[in-house]
Amino acid sequence: MCGIVGYLGSNGAYEILIQGLKRLEYRGYDSAGVALVTADGSLNVHKSRGKVSNLEQTAAAGCTAGSIGIAHTRWATHGEPNDINAHPHVSQSGDIALVHNGTIENYAVLKKVLEEHGYTFRSETDTEVLVQLVDYVRSTTPDCSLAEAVREALLQVEGAYAVAVVEKGDPDTLVVARKSSPLVIGVGDGETFIASDATPIIGYTDKVIYLKNNEMAVIRRGEPLSIFEIDSHTPSKISIKQLKLSLAQLEKGGYDTFMLKEIFEQPTTLRDCLRGRITGDCSRVTLSGVELNKDRFLQAERITLVACGTSWHAALIGKRLIQDFCQIPVEVEYASEFRYGNPVLNDRDIVIAISQSGETADTLAAIQLAKDKGAFVYGVCNVVGASIPRATDSGTYIHVGPEIGVASTKAFTGQVTVLTLLALAVGQLRGVIDSSTVQSVATALNAMPGTIEETLKCNDAVQKLSMFFTYAHNFIYLGRGYNYPTALEGALKLKEISYIHAEGYPAAEMKHGPIALIDQEMPSVIIAPSDSLYDKIISNVQQVKSRGGAVVAIVSKGNTAMKDIANFCIEIPDVPECLTPLVASIPLQLLAYYIAVNKGKNVDQPRNLAKSVTVE
Ligand code: F6R
Repeated sequence: MCGIVGYLGSNGAYEILIQGLKRLEYRGYDSAGVALVTADGSLNVHKSRGKVSNLEQTAAAGCTAGSIGIAHTRWATHGEPNDINAHPHVSQSGDIALVHNGTIENYAVLKKVLEEHGYTFRSETDTEVLVQLVDYVRSTTPDCSLAEAVREALLQVEGAYAVAVVEKGDPDTLVVARKSSPLVIGVGDGETFIASDATPIIGYTDKVIYLKNNEMAVIRRGEPLSIFEIDSHTPSKISIKQLKLSLAQLEKGGYDTFMLKEIFEQPTTLRDCLRGRITGDCSRVTLSGVELNKDRFLQAERITLVACGTSWHAALIGKRLIQDFCQIPVEVEYASEFRYGNPVLNDRDIVIAISQSGETADTLAAIQLAKDKGAFVYGVCNVVGASIPRATDSGTYIHVGPEIGVASTKAFTGQVTVLTLLALAVGQLRGVIDSSTVQSVATALNAMPGTIEETLKCNDAVQKLSMFFTYAHNFIYLGRGYNYPTALEGALKLKEISYIHAEGYPAAEMKHGPIALIDQEMPSVIIAPSDSLYDKIISNVQQVKSRGGAVVAIVSKGNTAMKDIANFCIEIPDVPECLTPLVASIPLQLLAYYIAVNKGKNVDQPRNLAKSVTVE
């Protein structure tokens, strides 16, 4: 949610900042801005509503010189997206410019106090309060440095922030700080980069420092970096990590969109996700996070999965996998409900937090609460080094590479794959799964990259099919058992990127209400692989057809019977029942994609959404 980037070095800051903003645009893209301090100390700020390309047009008319600057791409929380509410915000004195990712919860109180001191406000944002507060502290405290003013101001702030600040008249100082929202510092040769995540830094340096919670850093030209705790001023130990991401991983690789690239990347990403986790003969699954915490997994009396959005759908599939293979009671909670739900937990509980970005605010809060109550917290995350893997006791990365398209695709299949491995590993450890089940599921999982490649051959058929539904206003997605969550995920994909209303339902529940919606205008997508519930779902298909609804059925290869009933059939390879969500989700991703493209929508950056939801 919002992306910030900053630079101090010997090169022109503007190009680096704009490039960085483009890489961060997935975090928010309703407005953008940049502030630069020139060598003679003048402060130039350019802001614009809309995408970074709009900002480039606006900035082209002004001065973009300077080798220090900060920039921001916004996902609005306070105040509508417009030029005034865009960051950077500048203090009333015109001296201090600040960018912020997060929310300042006590902004109304602080604003009132500042108004009493004569400050007036131009924007509707919480961030403007912070920059005025820094200005107030700076101007009313004798010999107060910019860094000290930022620190003093932050001590009065309640909420979450990652901030970067520069000052008119000082082309040599960049001050940054974080609490709850992420911030990474890139250490180059005579230059320093800061950003909300490492993507803007790749290509310049592979040395990074992940600023910890409640830390701030003062970056001064020609001086060693100083990092210290905001509260106590205690210097922090600086730990430089090496980045393993490459520029190629951040590019579209010949595809029209990141989303299509990421859908087609799934054979490769699942290969990366599985690497080294299944023995050569497929008789055992090894996950180091489980091996290292055997006692916790052996003693566990209950597992609770917490997540948001698509990750929550993966959690629903995880619940069935863990119940089937580990015989432990499992609950699934939205992280946002769990954190305020007063959950009853103890040291025999395991909480598994699932997150692609590793930065989702609700999931982070759920983790903290679970830890405070004594539970063992395990993370399933994609972004290496993000806040969630650092906050959890242990965990497993899904290793599917950067997901740039805002609608999650390859992360979902990576999460389901890791949850399958986890369920098998814990089942083995607890001795409750027979070896033939491990062998058959692990063999099919090991073959999954090839199976997904095979599944992707439905691309052309799905693209053709999408033409019939471009102008539909509503959709219903139905599935049962393992594929009820697949139905939820298919519906979410469609609504996110095409803005068509879509509901996911357990197929048998349809007759208890939603069936009233079925008519010729309401297509149903029904996930009906040849599994233990196939015979049941056939009658659900009949119920839709007999009410005039069009049916798109996702069926296992070789199913000819469904062709006589459904209007359209898309075939997927036959796999063990517990793995059907992995293959069934592929045509659903493609269907959502092509319908959105047919409608001319921006699939990589759908309206109102952001990739990393770092606010409540
Ligand atoms: C949907 C989507 C979101 C995320 C959700 C959680 O395509 O991407 O629903 O799944 O915001 O994000 P993470 O997994 O980063 O915690």
